[in-house]
Amino acid sequence: PSVSPTLNSSSSSNLFDELPKEKSWGVTELYQWEGFWYALPHLKAAITARSQFEASDDDILLASSMKTGTTWLKALIPSIMHCNGEEDSDDDDDSNDPLLRNHPNALMPSIVQIFQENPNPYLSGMCSPRLFRAHLPYAMLPESVKTSGCKIVYITRNPKDTFVSLWHFSNAARTPEKGPSPLNKAFESFCKGVHPFGPFHDHVLEYWKESVKKSEKILFLKYEDLKRDTRGQLKKLASFLGRPFVKESELDKVIRRCSLERLKNLEVNKNGVDNLLGIANSLYFRRGTVGDWKNSLSTEMKERLDNITKMKLEGSGLDL
Ligand code: A3P
Repeated sequence: PSVSPTLNSSSSSNLFDELPKEKSWGVTELYQWEGFWYALPHLKAAITARSQFEASDDDILLASSMKTGTTWLKALIPSIMHCNGEEDSDDDDDSNDPLLRNHPNALMPSIVQIFQENPNPYLSGMCSPRLFRAHLPYAMLPESVKTSGCKIVYITRNPKDTFVSLWHFSNAARTPEKGPSPLNKAFESFCKGVHPFGPFHDHVLEYWKESVKKSEKILFLKYEDLKRDTRGQLKKLASFLGRPFVKESELDKVIRRCSLERLKNLEVNKNGVDNLLGIANSLYFRRGTVGDWKNSLSTEMKERLDNITKMKLEGSGLDL
């Protein structure tokens, strides 16, 4: 069931109390709104953003479910926008690479986080084109994002690897005394769609359907394709963003600068902390392999999630 009470300021906190709630991953309580699950601060900020955020025609929004490879794109998109046409003569010169001193989160700020901090943020002063990210479901995006020229890049990933990545990530947020959340329970929640910004499959399907209807507006990418054919996928991405690579060396530079190995070993990502989220930057970089689920999921779990995926995606033309 999906619930979306009318929100009017004075009684809003009571309305949130009436929403369906579930404890997920043993860390935080999630609230269901219009069919998707949110931590309460995210939900409140998302509702404010939906009514307040004004997209510009040249904005770029990176959208995704959690743990689908967003961080890679948070590095790739700014690098493409920055590098292509960069006056650099030396392809190995990284002195002006923003990734050197910034975690990718800082290069594509989260719309939800922005509105969480300040319900009336001043965003017109940002350099153009503005780059944003959001884990929001498509239906929850501010209307102007959909109706303006703002381009959307969506990244998704095989659900089994997404789940395992999310499980590791959320374990890192737990105290050492508590230890990792039991895999079975977390898996059960994921299968029910109860996880931040879940259900995963509904999230993916919304964007997939929109991308089929409006391919010039939404670019739909898969993590596995990016790993398998990085060059081909990046050429497609750069063209979509209106910054096609002119020289192969530009493409080489972007690939090198955004590689997991490089980013993982940069000081800012090894020892830095995301002050807004209060978590170590290093948590965003783990193995980055396709099929890592094999190290955690049993055969029964694999079959169960595969069946859910098959059932949910049936007839959509999407394969994950
Ligand atoms: P694993 O946990 O499977 O290693 P997100 O960025 O959406 O939170 O997704 C995190 C996943 O992307 C993690 O997967 C992480 O290791 C991987 N990742 C992060 N940066 C990457 C990069 N530059 N290249 C490839 N994968 C990356």
